[in-house]
Amino acid sequence: MKINNRLNGIGEYHFKNLDYIREKRISMGKKVVDLSIGDPNLLVDESIKEGLIEGMNKKGFNKYPPYDGLEELKLQIIKYYKDKFSVQLEEEEVVILIGSKEGISNVIPSVCDIGDTVLVPEPGYPVYYIASKLWGCFPCTVPLKEENNYLVDLDNIPENTVSKAKLMFINYPNNPTGASATEEFFERIVKFAKEKNIIVCNDAAYCEIIEQDIKPISILQFDKEKTVVEFGSFSKLYNMTGFRVGYAVGNKEVIKNLIKVKSNLDSGQFMPIQYAAINALKLGDEYNKQLKEEYSKRRVLVKKILQEKNIKFFDSYSTFYIWCKTPKGYTTYEFCLELLNKHGIIVTPGDVFGTLGYDYFRIALTQPYNIIENSLSSLDKYE
Ligand SMILES: Cc1ncc(COP(=O)(O)O)c(C=O)c1O
Repeated sequence: MKINNRLNGIGEYHFKNLDYIREKRISMGKKVVDLSIGDPNLLVDESIKEGLIEGMNKKGFNKYPPYDGLEELKLQIIKYYKDKFSVQLEEEEVVILIGSKEGISNVIPSVCDIGDTVLVPEPGYPVYYIASKLWGCFPCTVPLKEENNYLVDLDNIPENTVSKAKLMFINYPNNPTGASATEEFFERIVKFAKEKNIIVCNDAAYCEIIEQDIKPISILQFDKEKTVVEFGSFSKLYNMTGFRVGYAVGNKEVIKNLIKVKSNLDSGQFMPIQYAAINALKLGDEYNKQLKEEYSKRRVLVKKILQEKNIKFFDSYSTFYIWCKTPKGYTTYEFCLELLNKHGIIVTPGDVFGTLGYDYFRIALTQPYNIIENSLSSLDKYE
C-alpha cells in the first residue's frame, strides 16, 4: 500500500500509549495513580454545565455553527482581553477553535507553504513538531535550557535557520517545564519576529494557572501592531478538556487565513459548547483564585516531597506540571518503569517532549492532594 511518507517516524500520540499501560494495569486489578496527562481531576463549574444545557434549548442548536465561532463568544473573549490585559481586539482578530490543538495544527498551512521551516521549542508540547511535519513543513527545534529559565535564547538560533523560518511556536506558561515568560522576553520576541519577518504564535493554554500573586500576561500586551497570534484554551483553566473549545487571537491576516483553512476542513464547534465557554469566561476572578490556590497547594506539596526524596526539579510557579531530573543511575525509561511497577505511579517520560527531555520526567498535578501525597510519599530516597 502506498501511504503518506510523512507518517513514518511518527508514532501514536504518546498519551494513547500511556492510556494502554494504565488500562492494562487496572484490568489486572493493580492500583494506578496517573500523574501523566494534563487532564484535571477538578469539577466543571455548574454555570458551565448550565450554559451547555441552555445552548441545547436554543433554536438551531443542532445546525452547522458559524465557521469562525459564535459572535457572543468572540465578544466575551474580546472583553476578557480588555479586562485582563488591557488589549483591545477587534472581531476579525478572534476565531473560535475546536480546542487549541486544532488551531495549532491549522495555523501551519495558514502561514506556511510545503517545505517551509517552522521553529518549535524543545522540550515542547509535541503537536508543534508533529503537525509541522504532517503539513509538509520542516520543524526546526529551538532548545529551551534551564540556565535561561527555559526561555528561548533568541541570540543563539543560527541565522540561516532564522532566515528560512516563516512561523515560530512558543508556549508560555510552558508545558512541560512550568516556566513563565517575563515582560522583557515577550517584548524581545515581538521585536525579533518583526525584524526577521516570522509569525510568532504563543500557545497560552495555561495562561492563568500561575501562583496567586503573579499577574498573568499576554504576548499581545507587547505587540501594539498585532503581528503575533496567541492561542487560548478552556481545557485547563475550566476543566473542559472534553468540551473541545479554544481560540486564536491577534494578527488579522493569519486569523483570516486560519478561518479559510478551517472552513474548508471543519464546520466549527457544536454551539452549546460555545455557550458553555461563554459562561466559563463569566466566572471571573473568584473562580480563578480558588483554582490557583488548589494548584499552589499541590505544587508546594510535590516540591517538598521531591526535595525529601532527593529528586531535582525546576522550581517553577506556573502550569500544573513539575519538570524533574531523572535520578542518577537510571535512564528515564528505567525510572518511569520503577515508578509504575513498584509504586503504581504513571509520569510522563521527558523524551515525549523531544530529545532534550531525555534525562527528565514530568509530573502533572492533576490528581487530588491526598492521592498525590500518598503516592509520591511512597518513593525511595535517591542518590
Ligand atoms: C501546551 C499545550 N497547548 C495546547 C494543548 C491542547 O489544549 P486543547 O485541549 O485546548 O486542545 C495542550 C494540552 O495538553 C498543551 O499542553
